[in-house]
Amino acid sequence: MKTPHKRLLFILCGIMVVGFIYFSSRKLRLVWGLKPQRDAAETTVVLTKGAEVKRITERDPAETTVGLTKGAEVKRITVYDEQGFLLKLDKKLPPEWVNKYGNLSEGVCKPGYAAAKMTAIYPKFMNPAPMFLDRNFFKTPSKLLSKVSKYLPPFGFRTQERVIDSILSATKNYGLGAALDSLSCKRCVILGNGGVLLNKSLGPRIDDYDVVVRLNEAPVSGYVKDVGTKTTIRITYPEGAMQKPEKYDKDSLFVLSAFKPLDFKWLKQMVFKEKLRGTEGFWKSVARNVLQEPNEIRILNPYFIQEAAFQFIGLPSNNGLMGKGNIPTLGTVAITMALHNCDEVAVAGFSYNMNTPNALLHYYNKTVKMSAVKESWTHNIAKEKEFLRKLVKANVITDLTNGI
Ligand SMILES: *[C@@H]1O[C@H](CO)[C@@H](O)[C@H](O)[C@H]1NC(C)=O
Ligand SMILES: *[C@@H]1O[C@H](CO)[C@@H](O)[C@H](O)[C@H]1NC(C)=O
Repeated sequence: MKTPHKRLLFILCGIMVVGFIYFSSRKLRLVWGLKPQRDAAETTVVLTKGAEVKRITERDPAETTVGLTKGAEVKRITVYDEQGFLLKLDKKLPPEWVNKYGNLSEGVCKPGYAAAKMTAIYPKFMNPAPMFLDRNFFKTPSKLLSKVSKYLPPFGFRTQERVIDSILSATKNYGLGAALDSLSCKRCVILGNGGVLLNKSLGPRIDDYDVVVRLNEAPVSGYVKDVGTKTTIRITYPEGAMQKPEKYDKDSLFVLSAFKPLDFKWLKQMVFKEKLRGTEGFWKSVARNVLQEPNEIRILNPYFIQEAAFQFIGLPSNNGLMGKGNIPTLGTVAITMALHNCDEVAVAGFSYNMNTPNALLHYYNKTVKMSAVKESWTHNIAKEKEFLRKLVKANVITDLTNGI
């Protein structure tokens, strides 16, 4: 039998508990039925109004046991999404960075900014990861190495060690070059090849970046006003590479992003200027020579393909093998590389807006429209876009063409 007096006590107690939960919601364990979650520290529990609270035991503020009467409704609010990204994204700087960056004037390169902002929304982010494969890479055991040495291409280089070692013994250089490697703050821009680049006159702004990354056969000449003139590195694979060597940019690095074992064999023939043979495994015709000298050729660290696919985008791991829909696009791989190696990251020319089917897919092709993007066997454009949107929303990257 409850007296009104006892009832009032109950209600008061309930209000206190709800308040307590609101203000110290870390490591909360609810008895009966609700098992503590693996990452309880990342979970906030909110009680719906009217939940009757029976008892509260307070041993240590960090670990509180609350007893609820059966039938009370409990809502769990999760702070991180499946991939490990903060659910509530905004452009604000974390407080610890406000002092560091807050006073820098607009346009001044902010050291470590991209990685700091990335870590703020994705605490699992692991810096650093070298841009290119290095001959010493094989000999230096590191956590990162074990990740790429265990996987077959494209997620690693297992079975390709010898051909890679032979390529790297000829290229002898594994960085961006002395001038860029010694910069204390690098601003990078990754150019996707989207039609969204047209008529925006971004050329001068793009050329202003320390590192300009272009992909595959994206031309410069004829589009300078919109895409700039500078190419620091061009990342490509045999089928995507320009087939007319005179079109290759001078003074730029030719970077292979290998998707299959054959791609390394192809690069070896390019580096040693051999006549191309064994082309049966390519899905379309490939470049037969590369303008760059061996010391201007690099191999992109396959870690970025692995990390983009399995960690950032959340594509199916398929036991670490290439499978349906688990290969990220080259653009996203390049952005992943930049997050680890650039202090500030901007992108331009990224857009898959299916609401504008007649927009040009590529800035350099007047006939292929957005509507040509079909369900792809290899890529998962929708999931990839979700990932890129998180980066833009949190200001980890700046989207110069507002297409993401
Ligand atoms: C930035 O400005 C704040 C307030 O004006 C000041 O307390 C802080 O020391 C400054 N930080 C730097 C790095 O100059
Ligand atoms: C860009 O401008 C040219 C010339 O004014 C025009 O013909 C073309 O349709 C424009 N392209 C886009 C994608 O806006």
